[in-house]
Amino acid sequence: MAKAPAVLVLNGPNLNLLGSREPEVYGRTTLAEIEAACVARGKERGLAVDCRQSNAEGDLVTWVQEARGGHRGIVLNAGALTHTSIALLDAVQAVALPLIEVHLSNIYRRESFRHHSYISRAATGTICGFGPQSYLLALDAMARLLKTEEEV
Ligand code: DQA
Repeated sequence: MAKAPAVLVLNGPNLNLLGSREPEVYGRTTLAEIEAACVARGKERGLAVDCRQSNAEGDLVTWVQEARGGHRGIVLNAGALTHTSIALLDAVQAVALPLIEVHLSNIYRRESFRHHSYISRAATGTICGFGPQSYLLALDAMARLLKTEEEV
């Protein structure tokens, strides 16, 4: 059987605090629970999901750069770096892998400074507002994208 395509699920600053961080906005599910659900959904969809989180912009940039070596796609919740980081945008543009941007909250219902995303310029699509489900929907979409790539 062909090897399952590897997908990187990357989380940025403060997402390690999920579960206790502003639960009225982000819910009570922890990052560890979300990551376990992502790995399980990946298995169901034939993807090998690799989850990482960092509060440091440079770590995220390095992991995105390295993804070119072994990963076929990236699911990215860049946290607040979504709205500020040209460096992370440059990294995702440089690797040119299918990219799905994810947010737990609906950033368009929130403060206006969250309405602009640098990451969106490089994203195949964005899923936001569905809480932890946003990640699972993104993996469903990624599985579809990668399958389509193979069929073409
Ligand atoms: C977030 C939305 C961002 O605006 C915020 O800075 C986060 C989390 C989300 O998942 O809803 O850290 O990316």
